[in-house]
Formats: sequence, structure tokens, C-alpha cells
Amino acid sequence: MPVNGEVPWECAPHTGAKHDIYQRYLERWFPILLAGSNAYPSVTYAEGFSGPGIYKGGEDGSPVIAMRALVSKVPRTKGIARFAFVDDDQRCVDMLRETLTKAFPERPRTDAAMPVKIVKGTCVTRLEATLDEMRAWGQPIFANLDSWGNAPVPYRLLRRLAANVSSEVIVTLFPQHFVRFVSDLGEAGDAVFGGDPTWRTVADLPPAAKSRHILTCYRQALRAAGFPYLLDFELIPRKGQPLYLIFGTGHRLGVQKMKDSLWEVDRTQGVGFRDPRDEQAETLFDIDEPQLGPLTRLLTQRLRDSGPARVEDLRQFTLLETVYRPEHVIRALKPLMAHGALSVESGGALRRTSRVSLAPASAV
Ligand SMILES: C[S@@+](CC[C@H](N)C(=O)[O-])C[C@H]1O[C@@H](n2cnc3c(N)ncnc32)[C@H](O)[C@@H]1O
Repeated sequence: MPVNGEVPWECAPHTGAKHDIYQRYLERWFPILLAGSNAYPSVTYAEGFSGPGIYKGGEDGSPVIAMRALVSKVPRTKGIARFAFVDDDQRCVDMLRETLTKAFPERPRTDAAMPVKIVKGTCVTRLEATLDEMRAWGQPIFANLDSWGNAPVPYRLLRRLAANVSSEVIVTLFPQHFVRFVSDLGEAGDAVFGGDPTWRTVADLPPAAKSRHILTCYRQALRAAGFPYLLDFELIPRKGQPLYLIFGTGHRLGVQKMKDSLWEVDRTQGVGFRDPRDEQAETLFDIDEPQLGPLTRLLTQRLRDSGPARVEDLRQFTLLETVYRPEHVIRALKPLMAHGALSVESGGALRRTSRVSLAPASAV
């Protein structure tokens, strides 16, 4: 891996799963925004850490995946799709140019219908300026900020994206980076969290609480930047380090589509994911038969904290605050009913319209 490592590098297992999520999401995002009933005249897909577009084994990198998603899902005459790619390693910049030319030997769209910029520089110094030069603002932008997990992303850019029409970000985070370098980073690290030094208290926490603290601080930073809906999840390879992706959007539909993409990820890659808020950190490997234990715990906690609730509200909570889908809620509540830990207030079966409450002193 760069800085000094070779380019391109091996595709790690969690990279495959991450790419699968990007692909499934972008195959929804491009057509909704460029060809849907409320389509925009143009959109921009932007990367602040684009990489070379290819891996050592020939696997596609995220820039190629994004372009293929556009080409496969949107007629070439529909709207304008801009692509902005920034990387601070000249080798990645050169290889990305070469890779895109090979992947698309014939330009899939005209220059005017698909402007592409590949820029050498850091995300901090070049991404916002590149979006300015491309006149991307005022139309939807999807920003993929896939650093090595240290997220050197200007907060000002996040705020500007959050304020821009129908714009979204997905950020890669390795909390371990911040845990390990907390004393070296000091105030310099605060910029990643929007200037808030709270993340530095990670140094005083027990090991099991450290990653979650960093993730919570980053979520808070993204929310403060102006993204009202966040979805974060942990990709866990059978071997190697887990990776967090944090998605920020202004629209519930964005959360729903990202979650659909997440649950469709190809399981054969051996990468599971888990809800970072689950106290017992249970991994959801077999998604065909989802492990609903973590959701049962999260719903129990929610009912304990906020009191009786309508199942419909628990479905909204599940959509917006967990990695699960609303369709999982009733199945996750059933074991509580079976153990007498949950009751339907007006009696009868558990339905979407039911109002439910925990039995006193529920210990599930
Ligand atoms: C995780 S890789 C990107 C992989 C790519 N998004 C993909 O999925 O195919 C991170 C890239 O960020 C670049 N990079 C590291 N620090 C950077 C910075 N501060 N600004 C811009 N690029 C940076 C590296 O050269 C590397 O190519």
C-alpha cells in the first residue's frame, strides 16, 4: 500500500465488500437523480482519495465502478454526469488515467455529457477547488471520501456538501488510527472532527470502548456539518482489520437505498457487517437468515429508554438508527413476546399498527 508501497496494491477482502456496496448504491443513485421522475439536469460523483482505479489482481477500483454504474443504468442522452477524482500520489493519478482509458476504450458519453477531471493533490487542497472548476455546486454531488481511514477531509467541504442540493457523502474510517495516534495527532486531529476535541478522551477509555467513541465523535461531526441522516456500519473480514463506513445524507430515501445496498452485498466474500451500537458486537455473517439478536437488543434498549412505542415508530428508528431494515422489526420483537418480556398494549397479535411496551424489569 502507498505511501511507499507499490501501486496498484492487493484488494483486501473488505475492499471487495465495500466496492459491492458502492456499486449497488450508485446503480440506484445515478438513475434516480438523472433519469427519475424528479431528475436533475446534472450530477457529480467525486472522490477525494480515488486510487489508481485498479487492484493488483485486476479488480476494478471505485472510479471504474462508479462510471460503470452510470453507463449501465442511465441512457447516454440523459443529463450530465461529472466525475472528479483527486489523489495525492502521482502514480495513482497516472494509473487512473490509463485504467479509465482501458476500461472505456470508447468514450461512453460525450465530453459535454460526462466531463472527467483527474487531479493530483490532497483532498484538502484540491477537491473543493475541482468541484468549483467543474461548476458542480447547485446540483447533486455524491462524495466518496475513501482515505486509508484517517479521514483527512476538510470540514468546510463537508459543510458545503451538506448544504448543497441532494448531496451525500460516504467516509471510510479506521478508528484504530485515531486510537493509536491520539497523543501524536493532538489538536491537529481535531480538524477531522470539525474542531471538537472530545475525540481525544479516547486515551482515557477502556480498550473495548475506544472504537465506538471515535465513531460516535465522527457521527457527531457529520451531523453538526449538516447531514441529518447517518448510517454507519462496520465491515468485518474473517481475517484482517474491520473497517467503518459512515454515510451522510439529507434524505430518508438515501438511507433506505444505502441500506438495501448493504443487505444485498455478496455474502460469498466472507465479509460480515455489524451494528457498531450493539453492546455484544455480534457479527451478521449470514444475511440470508439475518441474525436478529442485535436488533432485539437495540429495540429493547430503545423501549427501555423511551417507554412504550408504536411498531411503526420502531420501524423508523430501525431504518434511521441501526443497520437493520424496517422489515426486520416484527421478527426481532417476537422472541420478546414469546418470553413475556413485551406486550401489545391492546392485546392481540403483533402488527405494524400495534403499540408495545416492555414488561417491568425486562432483562432480555
Ligand atoms: C483507500 S485508497 C483509495 C481506494 C479507492 N477509493 C478504491 O476504492 O478503489 C486511498 C488513496 O488515497 C490516496 N491519498 C492518501 N492521502 C491522501 C490525501 N491526503 N489526499 C488525497 N489522496 C490521498 C492514496 O494515494 C490512495 O490512492
